[in-house]
Amino acid sequence: MTVDAPTSPRPFHRLDISAPEFWKNDFRTRDDTFAALRAEDGLSWHPPTPSIFPHAETGFWAVTRHSDIQHVSRNHELFCSSQGVSMDPMPAEIQRAMTFFLAMDPPEHTRYRRLINIAFTPRQIRLIEDQIRTSAREIVDELVADLEANGTVDFAAEYSRKMPMRTISDMIGVAPEDREKIADAVESLFGASDEEYSSLEERAPHLMTQLAILAGVGTELAAARREDPRDDLMTNIVNAEVDGHRLTDEEIGAFMVLLGSAGNDTTKQASSHALAALVDHPEQRDWLLADFDARIDGAVEEFVRWSTPVIHFARHATEDTEVAGTRIDAGEKVVLFYCSGNRDESVFHRPHEFDITRTPNPHVGFGAPGPHSCLGRQLAKMELRHLFHELLTRLPDISVGEPEYVHSDFVHGIKRMPISLR
Ligand code: HEM
Repeated sequence: MTVDAPTSPRPFHRLDISAPEFWKNDFRTRDDTFAALRAEDGLSWHPPTPSIFPHAETGFWAVTRHSDIQHVSRNHELFCSSQGVSMDPMPAEIQRAMTFFLAMDPPEHTRYRRLINIAFTPRQIRLIEDQIRTSAREIVDELVADLEANGTVDFAAEYSRKMPMRTISDMIGVAPEDREKIADAVESLFGASDEEYSSLEERAPHLMTQLAILAGVGTELAAARREDPRDDLMTNIVNAEVDGHRLTDEEIGAFMVLLGSAGNDTTKQASSHALAALVDHPEQRDWLLADFDARIDGAVEEFVRWSTPVIHFARHATEDTEVAGTRIDAGEKVVLFYCSGNRDESVFHRPHEFDITRTPNPHVGFGAPGPHSCLGRQLAKMELRHLFHELLTRLPDISVGEPEYVHSDFVHGIKRMPISLR
């Protein structure tokens, strides 16, 4: 059963981006609608998406232009995260459990973000580069053997998750036997709107189950590290103090959910989309391989722009304000559509073309500059760099079958994508 929304204070825009059917369209088709919204003056007002949770939301403003996404992301005093970051109406406490400090504002946000910042400094990331390089080799060893034995392999379902799952698990200190459990829970959490994972009726209990699995792994690991400290992020977290107190089990569980979800499904999806795009554009693959080390960093930026694994995040206005000449009332929700910002024709030349030579490439795939901008971007880029080095040099000639997409307004995901040796 869905819950009816209260009456809207103003008419809704004629283009409906709230209906689940809209999100069944492919990314390119959806952008025809976003392009129409980008071309209009001001922002557009839309109905709340169907929700299983009771709520008092009357609608949301769609922020579709690159420059407006930047404005909202930068001005966290005017557009806060603590009232929720999801387009779908959802109780703030569930959002907190799902996204932890992503749904906080400075200064509280800064205190928690700082805790894991230590693990994401360029120096720390360089230290784990060897481990990422080794993982890339091992994963592609397995993939090559599987392709040679079976001819066709489902890259999206079986391989794309391996690199991020190993990297983030090693970093936190998750035991190898728990890695799959985390990756399964995260995929199922991110794909919650897809009927394959849960029907609308099942969605609330389904979300809670996946959250409990992730939080459970976090708190068990925390208990183990309190007893027996190691050189990993979880040991840092259990020993850290925020505002003079050690983190509670609930906070540690939420940390686990944030890192597990932010670090896994995003990079995984970027790798499936990028592999398909490079196979579709052999001339770009050849250009990249001709001077891989010099060209891969720019290419990875295009992988992220092209794939835009995270479709949106939301903010709420803290006072009456204005965006692009449209008045926004205090308390109203604005949704930042990164999928649209990354196809904004005023910023990107031929935005619908995959082009790894694109420069500059100021995409908003990792979010726009601001306090919440992706903490794991350097790590994600390093994972993609090493994974694609192995994939392209050792599998120069593969074909890719038709991808099957996740039905979601939050993740631009591929569920299945067969690849074969030519
Ligand atoms: C291609 C891969 C990735 C993409 C597309 C991506 C995208 C994003 C986006 C859009 C945001 C929100 C930005 C905002 O609200 O302004 C974000 C935040 C975040 N990301 Fe990533 N991400 C990726 C990889 C990673 C990885 C590997 C990690 C490692 C754990 C990570 C950790 C985080 C964290 C902790 C935040 C919250 C930051 C905050 O609220 O202060 N991300 N990411």
